[in-house]
Amino acid sequence: MVAKLTGRQASQVSLEICTQIRVIPVLSVTEIEDASPLAEALIEGGLNVFEVTLRTPKAFGVIKEMSKVKGSIVGVGTLRCRQDVEMAIEVGAKFGVSPGVTDDLVLACEEFGLPLIGGVSSVSEIMKMLSRGYTFLKFFPAEVSGGVTALNAISGPLPDALFFPTGGVSVRNAKEYLALKNVVCVGGSWIAKPKMIREKNWIEISRQANLASMLG
Ligand code: 3PG
Repeated sequence: MVAKLTGRQASQVSLEICTQIRVIPVLSVTEIEDASPLAEALIEGGLNVFEVTLRTPKAFGVIKEMSKVKGSIVGVGTLRCRQDVEMAIEVGAKFGVSPGVTDDLVLACEEFGLPLIGGVSSVSEIMKMLSRGYTFLKFFPAEVSGGVTALNAISGPLPDALFFPTGGVSVRNAKEYLALKNVVCVGGSWIAKPKMIREKNWIEISRQANLASMLG
């Protein structure tokens, strides 16, 4: 039996997860064998909430393996359609992230009970999601959508909207985002870049995770 979620409940659940941590690695993983050591390296560095993108063919298998690592909380990124949502539930993703929102995607997440952090980059998109009960949103692509300046301006008229900015966020600017009252956490690929994962550079990934864990 699937437990449906309203927009408000979806944001409550995803906020509970994301307020535990201030930086979420955005991961693109090609090989399933890399899933567990990657999760372990990130946890060792102090980060345990991950967004695994659907940009690689084996991403769902990777999510399944990462979810087995003790202490990890794995979300699925790049959600685009109902089928993605069904698969995300099947492999045990705890939350879903999308670069933008469509009615179909939002409804599928509500039907399948996957807490959605929907992607927005304009005031109208934010208002539409707020009207559906979603108060926690991904601000994407953050830097080219106005970054810290835009989020600060949005906090005036829409103080109830909270954000997870990604896209151009890095160790250089993360602190500025995290200082905003409407930013819960930031995300980015800098902590474990695809090349670092391909090279199985777990030591460097742990080091980057540790540096990131101290940003907030
Ligand atoms: C995302 O999917 O959220 C972004 O592609 C991550 O952006 P970054 O590569 O600029 O960190």
